[in-house]
Amino acid sequence: MSEQGSTTANEGHQYPPDPELAKTANARPEMKEQGLEEFWGEQGTQRLDWFTPYDTVLEWELPYAKWFVGGKLNACYNCVDRHVENGKGDKVALHVVPDDGPDSLESRDITYAQLQEQVVKFANGLKELGVGKGVPVGIYMQMIPEAVVAMLACARLGAPHTVVFGGFSGKAVAERCNDLEAKVLITQDEAMRGGKTAPQKTNADEGLDAGPTSIEKVVVVRRSGNEIPMSDRDIYLDDLVADVSGDPESCPCEPMDAEDLLFLLYTSGSTGKPKGVVHTTAGYLLGVATTHDLVFDVKEDSVYWCAADIGWVTGHSYIVYGPLCNGVTQVLFEGTPGYPDKDVWWKIIEKYGVTILYTSPTAIRSHMKWGEQYAQSRDLSSIKILGSVGEPINPEAWEWYREHVGAGKAPIMDTWWQTETGHILITPLPGITTLKPGMAQQPFPGVRPEVRDDEGNELGAEETGNLVLTAPWPGMMRGLYKDDQRFRDTYWSKYSDAYFAGDGAKYDADGDIMLMGRIDDVVNVSGHRLSTFEVESALVEHADVAEAAVASRKDPDTGQAIVAFVSLVGDKEGSEELEQALREQVAQSIGKLARPATVIFARDLPKTRSGKIMRRLLKNIAEGEELGDTTTLVDPTVVTDMQKQVSG
Ligand code: PRX
Repeated sequence: MSEQGSTTANEGHQYPPDPELAKTANARPEMKEQGLEEFWGEQGTQRLDWFTPYDTVLEWELPYAKWFVGGKLNACYNCVDRHVENGKGDKVALHVVPDDGPDSLESRDITYAQLQEQVVKFANGLKELGVGKGVPVGIYMQMIPEAVVAMLACARLGAPHTVVFGGFSGKAVAERCNDLEAKVLITQDEAMRGGKTAPQKTNADEGLDAGPTSIEKVVVVRRSGNEIPMSDRDIYLDDLVADVSGDPESCPCEPMDAEDLLFLLYTSGSTGKPKGVVHTTAGYLLGVATTHDLVFDVKEDSVYWCAADIGWVTGHSYIVYGPLCNGVTQVLFEGTPGYPDKDVWWKIIEKYGVTILYTSPTAIRSHMKWGEQYAQSRDLSSIKILGSVGEPINPEAWEWYREHVGAGKAPIMDTWWQTETGHILITPLPGITTLKPGMAQQPFPGVRPEVRDDEGNELGAEETGNLVLTAPWPGMMRGLYKDDQRFRDTYWSKYSDAYFAGDGAKYDADGDIMLMGRIDDVVNVSGHRLSTFEVESALVEHADVAEAAVASRKDPDTGQAIVAFVSLVGDKEGSEELEQALREQVAQSIGKLARPATVIFARDLPKTRSGKIMRRLLKNIAEGEELGDTTTLVDPTVVTDMQKQVSG
């Protein structure tokens, strides 16, 4: 039996809430009884500081919502300044843990007062480059504190940011910056991960120099300190802020309308280029702060750690805006789970007394594979609440997480949400929900999910259908950047009265919801969202490729893995070298995480007589399943050849 096999998943196992936790939990059962405007209105008044109070909680004209209409506020003020003004300046905001772990000489703490000074300086520096209200800024960085500071500095000025995941290619950066006509890009000299340095600024340059770019100035944060090529377009952050003031009065927080743009975040859809998801100020900030507080039961002395990356929505909502709005102390870890040692996570928890850990099923499965001895060798008794996000968590991983990280008792919050939803929408609540491994279970207060069939009928227990949301919520996307039609087509056309999430789901007999994964061509690799279309486009950029189609298969480590089917031009033959070259092509075009796990070379792709690729068959082949009817194919032997390659 494998090590992780010692805790087998207990199908149907339930864990009732701890009565002690129930007594002190921030979430109250009555919240679910409140009307949605009543609930969010109350939260909006209590949790946020407003420069001008709002008049109306919600104006809803499907598909566009306006929340807290008439209100003025600033996200940076709520996340930083007000804590300092309220006497919490000396509280640690960030325990900064560098790549080489918590024992590193570079590990350090940043208090809220220090964070404020850094943000003010950064914002003053950006002002000198012409950044101000409504001027978009690109950010392409790793998990270093300056990334958080950069986002907050933008928010302070009212400049919308778009963060591009630091592992994406320079091409991805350039495309996104051009889309929103960003003039300034913030990046760092080099990335430091797993004990190695990797180019960051040079990657950005490659993308920006490949074609026309909107970027006029690149701010470079020194991380590795190594010499890198700099041009007239570039300026080091140190130089930019050398002579600027760090006094908050030198750069007051810009009063923003509740519905002013806070940020754009590009995410993969099933077709076309990545979608620029629009998030505005008040509703988003309130949504992330409320969910962070109630789902993770945040207390004044909580030490919180979200092991996501700021390049994804989880980092935006649950590293930057939610936790900082709630004035929490948190860990910011630059590195990876296995470096410098496989116990680095547990060392971090032990050193800082982490009480709340929020991570992905993929990370949990890596730890599971390495064995529980690493977690057992450290004192994890500080842990009170665990969280999971990004993909469905398999019950084995859930049980392992609870047993070995949560001392067999910490409740796990399996949180379902999306880039588009802005914040958690389906989740258990501490002290309230009887937990079921592998299910996100319950709508957050004010959230109204349904499961429907393709015709729009609401389905009953144990019937799998499409997850929809029938009422608005404050952090919901306010459209796709400059693309109203695509917004309506993607999310609001399947059903005329509800948001279509793109996920399969079912209710059980108790009314708990289980998420079943994407129902479109979006692939979820290690909790990272990619579209098969983007990977196909990258593959056909290679001169030897005639056609490419991409499917996914289940993977025990990464949840899903990408399988690419490729037909070659002329009489070119597939080879290991070509497979490597294609994987490299995808890494260059999108980023390493999008590289196919398997490449299948084929004479042709399975097509019907009308020339349509039968994607269902590719999926079957990738998963090693029975093929069913192939008689409509022009050449049925194409698929049998493919099957042989998969089975090796
Ligand atoms: O399929 C769902 C899956 O991740 C998708 C959203 O991906 P993204 O926009 O990148 O945001 C990830 C972080 C929120 C969803 O459509 N997903 C996310 N969380 C869960 C999940 N699937 C099942 N259970 C979850 N807890």
